[in-house]
Amino acid sequence: MIPALADETSASKLYLKLQDMLGDVVPAFELRLKSELAAKINLLKVQKNAVILGHNYMEPALFHSIPDYIGDSLDLARRAAATNKDIIVFCGVRFMAETAKILNPKRTILLPSLKAGCSLAASITASDVRGLKKKFPGVPVVTYVNTYADVKAESDICCTSSNAAAVVESLNSNTVIFLPDEYLAKNVARETGRHIIFPTKDPRNGSASDLDYQMIGWQGRCEVHEKFSLEDIADIRRQFPDVVILAHPECSPEVVDASDYSGSTNAMIKYVEQTHAPRYLLLTECSMGDNIAAANPEKEMLRLCSVRCPHMNQITLEDTLASLKENQHIIDIPEDIRSRAARAVERMIAIG
Ligand code: 13P
Ligand code: SF4
Repeated sequence: MIPALADETSASKLYLKLQDMLGDVVPAFELRLKSELAAKINLLKVQKNAVILGHNYMEPALFHSIPDYIGDSLDLARRAAATNKDIIVFCGVRFMAETAKILNPKRTILLPSLKAGCSLAASITASDVRGLKKKFPGVPVVTYVNTYADVKAESDICCTSSNAAAVVESLNSNTVIFLPDEYLAKNVARETGRHIIFPTKDPRNGSASDLDYQMIGWQGRCEVHEKFSLEDIADIRRQFPDVVILAHPECSPEVVDASDYSGSTNAMIKYVEQTHAPRYLLLTECSMGDNIAAANPEKEMLRLCSVRCPHMNQITLEDTLASLKENQHIIDIPEDIRSRAARAVERMIAIG
């Protein structure tokens, strides 16, 4: 998606437009400060021939003011691959900025905060993947993009939440290793009709060839989506019987089952925009509800804001301005890792 305000360099015009969209969510005083920062960023972006990519989880004032493109991980990876700008500023988390670097070795990739990690990316190392490949020789490895470059380099193909089932099916293999999100793997196993095992907790502890399996998972979890529970859903439905509940596929299969729809962040936005329910609840990072409500004022969005992504929240307008001014923090990946990771990412992009 291409937001309307990305080229606006007047702080007063930005303020009026943001006030119109976010006046109910962000106090006027804060919006005024944020408009000034956004105006400076939009000017500097042109002067430095930079493009800003913003993930759907960015806080509302940033999301609606500075990114040239907004979207889910797959969408933004595609935008990164297609850009001709000298600099890409990634308003998202580190693994996303790394994916942009993997696809753009010659361009400068900036991440506004080095604290923007991800519990899934931290859950697995390249050596863990090599261990699994040794245990299950010849089995193709699919890794979720929520991993660091060295893990991608050990993989045959990457996937995101919007193409995971299609990627698994594209391999035409009876068995696949799917890393590192336990819940996404279970949801994809169900969608593709596969039986999944988790070797680290398999009680049989037998040799790989004894086991009945078609998918081999890992026990990484998203620290945000793992928190949503069946009790949350029951409570909300009791209080708002007409609510439509959408769950990201990083939620547990039980939560996905109890919801009305499951899809990537882009897919959830599209679902809300294209349907007409009395109210919606997103089981995902809370900012997305604010962002959808700002763009679609006629939609009633409930929020479960006690559950937040501490990594996405590290990206602020202040740090983004500093990032552009000082060229910080530059994302670099050793070329032998980058080129191997590029094969897995490009293979995914070719599938769609
Ligand atoms: P999407 O690919 O759906 O945008 O998800 C990224 C993510 O980190 C979800 O937690
Ligand atoms: Fe990672 Fe979860 Fe945050 Fe997404 S929401 S960036 S998966 S910790």
